[in-house]
Amino acid sequence: MRHLILSLALIASAVASTAISTDDVLRFGSPEEVGMLPGPLEDMIANLTAFTEARNWTDATDGEILPIQPGGATLVARHNVIVSYFAFGKRSLWASVNGTQGVKLAGSDQQDAEVDTIYDAASLTKMYTTVAALRCIDDGLFTLNGTVADWLPEFGVNGKENITVLQLMTHTSGFPASPSPLLYMPSFPTYESRIEAILDHGLLNKPGEAYVYSDMSYMTLMLLIERVTGKSLDVVIGEITKKLGMTDTFFNKGNKEGGFDRYSRIAPTEFQRIVVGDLTPDRPQPCRTVHDEQAWSLNGVSGHAGLFTTVLDTARLCQMILNNGTYNGHRILSQESVDHVFTNWNERFGSSPGRGAGFELNQPSTAGPMASELTASHTGFTGTSMVVDRGSGTLFVHFANRVHPSREWSSNTIVRRTLGWWVATALGRPVQH
Ligand SMILES: *[C@@H]1O[C@H](CO)[C@@H](O)[C@H](O)[C@H]1NC(C)=O
Ligand SMILES: *[C@@H]1O[C@H](CO)[C@@H](O)[C@H](O)[C@H]1NC(C)=O
Ligand SMILES: *[C@@H]1O[C@H](CO)[C@@H](O)[C@H](O)[C@H]1NC(C)=O
Ligand SMILES: *[C@@H]1O[C@H](CO)[C@@H](O)[C@H](O)[C@H]1NC(C)=O
Ligand SMILES: *[C@@H]1O[C@H](CO)[C@@H](O)[C@H](O)[C@H]1NC(C)=O
Ligand SMILES: *[C@@H]1O[C@H](CO)[C@@H](O)[C@H](O)[C@H]1NC(C)=O
Repeated sequence: MRHLILSLALIASAVASTAISTDDVLRFGSPEEVGMLPGPLEDMIANLTAFTEARNWTDATDGEILPIQPGGATLVARHNVIVSYFAFGKRSLWASVNGTQGVKLAGSDQQDAEVDTIYDAASLTKMYTTVAALRCIDDGLFTLNGTVADWLPEFGVNGKENITVLQLMTHTSGFPASPSPLLYMPSFPTYESRIEAILDHGLLNKPGEAYVYSDMSYMTLMLLIERVTGKSLDVVIGEITKKLGMTDTFFNKGNKEGGFDRYSRIAPTEFQRIVVGDLTPDRPQPCRTVHDEQAWSLNGVSGHAGLFTTVLDTARLCQMILNNGTYNGHRILSQESVDHVFTNWNERFGSSPGRGAGFELNQPSTAGPMASELTASHTGFTGTSMVVDRGSGTLFVHFANRVHPSREWSSNTIVRRTLGWWVATALGRPVQH
């Protein structure tokens, strides 16, 4: 049966690939040609830049006078046309945390954010892992409703015998949010011991009975993808990003502190050992290797975090989804797999937000007033977000290192919502701020 599925999938992708054109790639153009208003898109730049100012942003800075984020980059596109693409503020600004005072770098040591600044994507990595998993389904390597342990037998212990691939992608497998103890703790001295900890870990809930957003689901998805492809996750995702024409999306495998040309373009993040404590990985501060401590302990490569990318590269992934699976002359996903992203699999737990494969649906804290059942989005802890709106054919990506210098200074949800408000306004919608 599995072989039959495989050959049907091969025939389907062979048929589809003959019909793909290459004019589905992102290009620059005017807002007017895709039915958007230029005025709001211009006003948006100063408005989003203002979030770099130290002010009392009330809840967003816990009543302290602090910036929301030091800087960032934004890209908005509709119908394959990039209508806004800008950077603002600083990429590197702080010399130390000093509570909520902060000590700035000398002016000459500060670095401006650029449009091609490389950000630590944090949990946006899960969206790349989602695409890799859907691709495995299209290739007949596993199925959406198949049992993970069928392909990864070591996982079928401690109540996890019947967990499905879909449950991993919708955070309903029963896993807690994080492994306990955390993978970077002294209990797990080697990479092998950490992988074993993921495979052996027990559950918090019965599979399918509760929704708990869990990094463990995506660590497991990595191990499943690696087993069926016989390749490591960075290689599998690298094959996809290469086809999409992405040159600035990568895992820093081995947590290298420099020695490769893109390292200097990475926005620094947190003074983590000051903020979180000295059990976090011992490495140069502020972190420029992956911020997520557990991804760091997995050698920089995990299904839940680890990817570094730019707004333009991640916009390409979003556009592939809007194109229903094709980009740059390649079919990455089948239409059916893309439809899985826009299906609310978690309706039984309440109406909003929903959960498609990997992505959230109808999430106003990420998409602002653009949120709808046809809007798939996700955020990353470091300050990143991506939104794909099938209803209007629009995508918007906002990257910021809001954890520079400290995760405790701010939440940048306010910026995400405001960006969604500007996009809706530029689409001519009468939305309230
Ligand atoms: C951004 O614009 C909105 C709408 O005009 C306004 O309410 C908000 O205060 C502005 N934000 C900043 C940080 O200037
Ligand atoms: C910031 O604003 C909030 C709400 O108005 C207020 O409770 C808080 O005291 C203010 N913080 C400072 C430092 O003024
Ligand atoms: C650190 O913050 C304290 C106030 O909390 C301030 O007095 C001190 O000058 C700051 N240190 C530096 C190096 O700026
Ligand atoms: C997979 O499971 C979901 C949820 O139980 C169900 O709605 C869907 O029809 C199933 N898909 C297939 C291909 O069996
Ligand atoms: C898995 O499913 C089988 C068949 O429905 C059932 O007998 C078994 O108890 C389930 N195992 C677990 C751990 O839920
Ligand atoms: C993608 O699929 C959706 C749902 O079938 C459809 O509404 C949309 O027009 C398609 N988009 C493209 C670019 O083909």
